[in-house]
Amino acid sequence: MRPKVYITRRIPDGIIARIEKECEVSMWPETDIPVPREVLEREIIDADGIFCLLTESVDKELIAKAQQLKVISNMAVGYNNIDIGAAKEKGIIVTNTPGVLTDTTADLTFALMMAAARRIVESSDYLRKGNWKTWSPMQLTGQDIFGATLGIIGMGRIGEAVAKRASGFDMNLLYYNRSQKPYLEKKMNMKFVGLDTLLKESDFVCILTPYTRETKNLIGYKELLLMKKTSILINTARGGIVNEEDLCRALKEGEIWAAGLDVFELEPISPENPLLTLPNVVTLPHIGSASINTRMKMAELAADNLLLALNNKTPLYFVD
Ligand code: NAP
Ligand code: GLV
Repeated sequence: MRPKVYITRRIPDGIIARIEKECEVSMWPETDIPVPREVLEREIIDADGIFCLLTESVDKELIAKAQQLKVISNMAVGYNNIDIGAAKEKGIIVTNTPGVLTDTTADLTFALMMAAARRIVESSDYLRKGNWKTWSPMQLTGQDIFGATLGIIGMGRIGEAVAKRASGFDMNLLYYNRSQKPYLEKKMNMKFVGLDTLLKESDFVCILTPYTRETKNLIGYKELLLMKKTSILINTARGGIVNEEDLCRALKEGEIWAAGLDVFELEPISPENPLLTLPNVVTLPHIGSASINTRMKMAELAADNLLLALNNKTPLYFVD
């Protein structure tokens, strides 16, 4: 019997066709509306495999409904949307898509640094609103990126790719990570420091850890107070690693200079969120990996992982 697969969002036709060659496929047909929970609860019951996105909460309760599930293939590198423990207990393999999105996400991280530091969005709005009357010496002045100190929290694949870009801008590099990486320190001329030192000494702080019990609220008001008043915080990892209320307060009080955010505690962010009222915050709708090529590669890789697991082979990437 062909395995049953449920795909939680419309994905490119070629990839659906690949999965259909080997499996009975059902799919939530929308591109921009997430699958309703009740549909997922129904579909998971007799599915052998699920192809899902980071928008789906594959929690303990949902996993408990699965009667024959072998694999949950997440089209993302982050997998904090999945209860790994609950999956493991039932012998379900969880797979993800690391690597293929590293450079695209590092580019976006750098774009956010530049946008926040040089007030790109604010300046563009200023012009479009008809406020630009003349060139003036200190008009819309920002912070320099070249030669500044960048502190990276989470020196994994994307952290390293951001460091590589930063070295082209002659930035001084500090990093804080769960484990020390001496080979990178040599290769990229960067220094391993404690979190407090990184926060105190950096002009830019980029967050690139996964969202876990340990990293939840890693950056709160106390940590933000350690940062320079001229510093800029960038989060392209996950909302919730930075406490949003505390960030808003620190920005309003001038404790830090600006922020660039691609991710939020609750996504999509509410239009009422006070962060959206601050001119010194650049906000993006979680587009870190959003290049056409990279999203195609992620979907291909998620399909590879799914099919390998369903064929009792080792997926290319799985969560250990
Ligand atoms: P990765 O290679 O696994 O890197 C994560 C790094 O964080 C590792 O170096 C890890 O340390 C470190 N780390 C984990 N827990 C830590 C802690 N408690 N304290 C300090 N460091 C800790 O992952 P990646 O591919 O770079 O991706 C990182 C994250 O970015 C993903 O988990 C995802 O949430 C996010 N992301 C967002 C987007 C977007 O669209 N905005 C796109 C891609 C990824 P070790 O080296 O010791 O393991
Ligand atoms: C995106 O946020 C990912 O984790 O791939």
